[in-house]
Amino acid sequence: MRQVAGKLLLFGATGDLAQRMLLPSLYGLHADGLLPEKLTITATSHLDMDEEGYRRFAAAALSSFVAPGRKCALAVSGFLDRLHYSTLDATDPDGFGQLSEKVGSTDEGLAIFLSTAPWLFGPTIKGLKTAGLAGDGVRIGLEKPLGNDLASSREINDIILDAFPEDRTFRVDHYLGKETVQNILALRFGNSLFEPVWNAQGIDHVQITVSETVGLEGRAGYYDKVGSLRDMVQNHMLQLLALIAMEPPARFNGAAIRDEKVKVLRSLRQICARDVATHTVTGQYQPGAIDGEIVAGYAQELDCPSDTETFVAIKAHVDNWRWRGVPFYLRTGKRLPERRSEIVVRLKPVSHSIFEERGASLCPNTLVIRLQPQEYVRFLVMAKQPGLDREGVRLQEVPLNLSLDDQFAQSPRRIAYERLLLDLIDGDPTLFVRRDEIEAQWEWVDAIREGWKAHDVRPKPYAAGAWGPSAAIALTERDGITWHE
Ligand code: BG6
Repeated sequence: MRQVAGKLLLFGATGDLAQRMLLPSLYGLHADGLLPEKLTITATSHLDMDEEGYRRFAAAALSSFVAPGRKCALAVSGFLDRLHYSTLDATDPDGFGQLSEKVGSTDEGLAIFLSTAPWLFGPTIKGLKTAGLAGDGVRIGLEKPLGNDLASSREINDIILDAFPEDRTFRVDHYLGKETVQNILALRFGNSLFEPVWNAQGIDHVQITVSETVGLEGRAGYYDKVGSLRDMVQNHMLQLLALIAMEPPARFNGAAIRDEKVKVLRSLRQICARDVATHTVTGQYQPGAIDGEIVAGYAQELDCPSDTETFVAIKAHVDNWRWRGVPFYLRTGKRLPERRSEIVVRLKPVSHSIFEERGASLCPNTLVIRLQPQEYVRFLVMAKQPGLDREGVRLQEVPLNLSLDDQFAQSPRRIAYERLLLDLIDGDPTLFVRRDEIEAQWEWVDAIREGWKAHDVRPKPYAAGAWGPSAAIALTERDGITWHE
């Protein structure tokens, strides 16, 4: 039986993520009566402030980052009453004793959410263990980055394992908290339409695009060390790929779903040094324009030259029976023309067209799953244009349109972290990433990085506001495929 946590302990409680996402999400859950009634939230950070100071800090974060329609003075004040604060220098082992006193007994269950700088992970986990804050009733949620390659991720995971067994370790990939990402499961396994064609016989290729218009957003210190392969592909995009490509799990639970995802991640064909030139493209944005506004290039924003990629496109393969020969094209980048997360599944053409002799050509069916900013599933099918067809039959591609925005207009859209924090408090691991998944993801990504290093691959320039360097277009065009625009 899972124990719902009666206490929540937040590390990094004055950081950017806490202000923008964690506090607004916890507030949203509180306002909707979804948090356990007696749940207390102890916030910690290195900043020296008292409880009242932290409540003022949290109130300011809510005022800036909670959507206007969801603000309610009574709910805000009730939420602030749940908050407690303890200053902690995570590098000082003694501090954890005081923290433990502040948190009190963990008998009613404690959920910890850790979002701190990577170098504080080790000392924090050790401090928690020594202070008795890692016992049976305690589970821990961890925000990325958990390492920057397979070796460092293993090191961190070993440190975590020394204090928290895997079933009490909840690694966050916030994409899994997004409603539309979970909808991939509903679409694939709640309908009988797709499964018969969901394989190499039925599908020609898959495209996954996660494009952003933003640039560095003041995160230069972090971003320049990772680049888009590690920032976006290693986690979010590979998780999307795994959800699209996995075998049907037998049950809807953490073990069954993650077992299937990890099989996909382990079946990813390694892109070795000799293939990086044909299977990957990297880019870095230069000055350009986004939405009609002139924006600086990456190096200007950074104020020094850099070899970090802000764009990556990859041709991937899942080497198993189901997906033999089906390319998965991935692309993601900063300062692209629009913000869009989308999965496009292109089906195979019909095996024989009866329309050709009547002058009509067919487009293969395409399934478009738009994750954000709009939420829809669009199935592009061929339909006959109305008319008497004296000059031949005219067919046109038209969308069968399921707009989730319209269909579920009455349901509030929640921040991904609302779902993930609630699952952490409830102890449901289904939407968190298991160690074996993370390690398979790193293994694949590390091989690409080694290939880039071996061939001294440097990012190609692209103007901000373009869809990456022209080589990204060539990556698919070589296979006779166009990116879905
Ligand atoms: C984060 C990356 O994990 O995801 C950011 O570190 C990126 O660089 C963000 O901007 C994108 O998330 P979303 O939810 O806005 O698509």
